[in-house]
Amino acid sequence: MNRGGTSRGRTAVIVGAQWGDEGKGKIVDVLTKTFSVVARYAGGHNAGHTVIIHGKKFILQLVPGGVLRPECTSVVGNGVVIDPLAFLKEVASLRAANVKVDGNLFVSNRAQVILPYHRMIEMGSENAPGRVKIGTTSPGIGPAYEDKMGRRGLRVADLLDTPLLRTHIENACREKNLIAHALFNSDPLDADKMFAEYAAAARELAPFVCDTALLLNRALAEGKSIVFEGAQGTMLDIDHGTYPFVTSSSATSGGAATGTGVPPTSIDTVIGITKAYCTRVGGGPFPTELLGAEGEDLRKRGNEFGAVTGRPRRTGWLDLPILRYAGMINGISWLVVTKLDVLDHLTEIPVCVGYKVDGKATEEVPAQACGYEKIECVYRKMAGWATPTQDIRTIQDLPKAAREYMAFIEKETGARVGMISTGPDREQTILAPEFVEELGLQAS
Ligand code: GDP
Ligand code: IMO
Ligand code: MG
Repeated sequence: MNRGGTSRGRTAVIVGAQWGDEGKGKIVDVLTKTFSVVARYAGGHNAGHTVIIHGKKFILQLVPGGVLRPECTSVVGNGVVIDPLAFLKEVASLRAANVKVDGNLFVSNRAQVILPYHRMIEMGSENAPGRVKIGTTSPGIGPAYEDKMGRRGLRVADLLDTPLLRTHIENACREKNLIAHALFNSDPLDADKMFAEYAAAARELAPFVCDTALLLNRALAEGKSIVFEGAQGTMLDIDHGTYPFVTSSSATSGGAATGTGVPPTSIDTVIGITKAYCTRVGGGPFPTELLGAEGEDLRKRGNEFGAVTGRPRRTGWLDLPILRYAGMINGISWLVVTKLDVLDHLTEIPVCVGYKVDGKATEEVPAQACGYEKIECVYRKMAGWATPTQDIRTIQDLPKAAREYMAFIEKETGARVGMISTGPDREQTILAPEFVEELGLQAS
């Protein structure tokens, strides 16, 4: 795909179509074979994106997947909240694994910074009596976005401005220590110690920092192609997800524009990633959840444990109303179906094809978390294929029932299935020829 040339480069947004952990990391990695730049647009180190290359596993939290190809440029956009210590730790572990991070990895000077008091407030509020427990990943993501929207946050450019950093930390610590003590009886944080630690981190971070909106728009003008790497998923989006059981950022495709400074008019394609079934981690509604032995079986077979936290993920059947909703909110034209192999043992696969409320069919996804309690899922049983798919590399070679499962998803969502993943490794991927052609990918 146009790594050089003169016309504007192509762009594609990779967005989670469920509640996160759909396999976005792996799919971004596959696309970077031909895309030149990868830009993360939302979230922080709450994300855990797993990429497996010839058996070697990488778990990326803040660093975009493009870093695993040395010829690719990776950008942490302005929509991300960045904990400098977490970022530097990730960079150090990538360096230790001989991954190139110098000259190819950039951080937006407008990204917001997570500081220790964000963690302190998050820990306190998650456990406070009377608060809705979200089951967050706990690194301070929500409170950092609160400060961003409250216009009292610290941005990366400010982190590098030493006198401003000192004043900001002194003032913020005074305020946050008072709040956290009054509300949660937390021990106060030491502003001097924090300043010393973050001023040192700022020096290490400085070589990565630039105006990434300028970098990305210039890259596009030079004909370079960009993948926007989403974190979390549609149903965790602050506006469109299962509020309040969501994350604090715009995980949906609209976030790709605001979170990077690339205009919406420069976005060509939105690719939604969905598992062949469904998972969610943390609290909140999950209409197709399987609570018994079946759910446990899916968790074991799919190895459904958080990439970073190790928390067991809740599991359930594919939810087509949610997938249609994700299609509408994100403008998904292509779907990628991951973890097909996890269903390989089944002779029958239930799929939720619709919702009923008070006995009446509805296409509406509830605005309130309590609205989900009234939902009755309507299931259709699809035929299983009961045969291994991990080594299959073309759609024609998939068992008939698996092809029918894909065709059914296409019919029910109106999106085309462009890629099917049948195992965690980069190579365990099936590409549809039309997808290869439209995105300019070469089949491997
Ligand atoms: P992300 O957050 O969307 O990038 O997804 P995660 O990396 O958190 O979770 C996806 C998990 O499924 C990871 O452990 C991947 O290695 C794994 N995975 C991805 N695609 C497949 C697949 O097709 N089959 C199987 N069995 N595992 C997969
Ligand atoms: P990736 O990018 C799955 C969930 C948390 C919690 C809620 C809010 O790997 O798909 P937060 O710490 O963001 O305030 O937590 O969102 N959550 C995720 N679940 N995958 C993720 O990221 C997630 N990031 C946050 O479990 O329920
Ligand atoms: Mg994940």
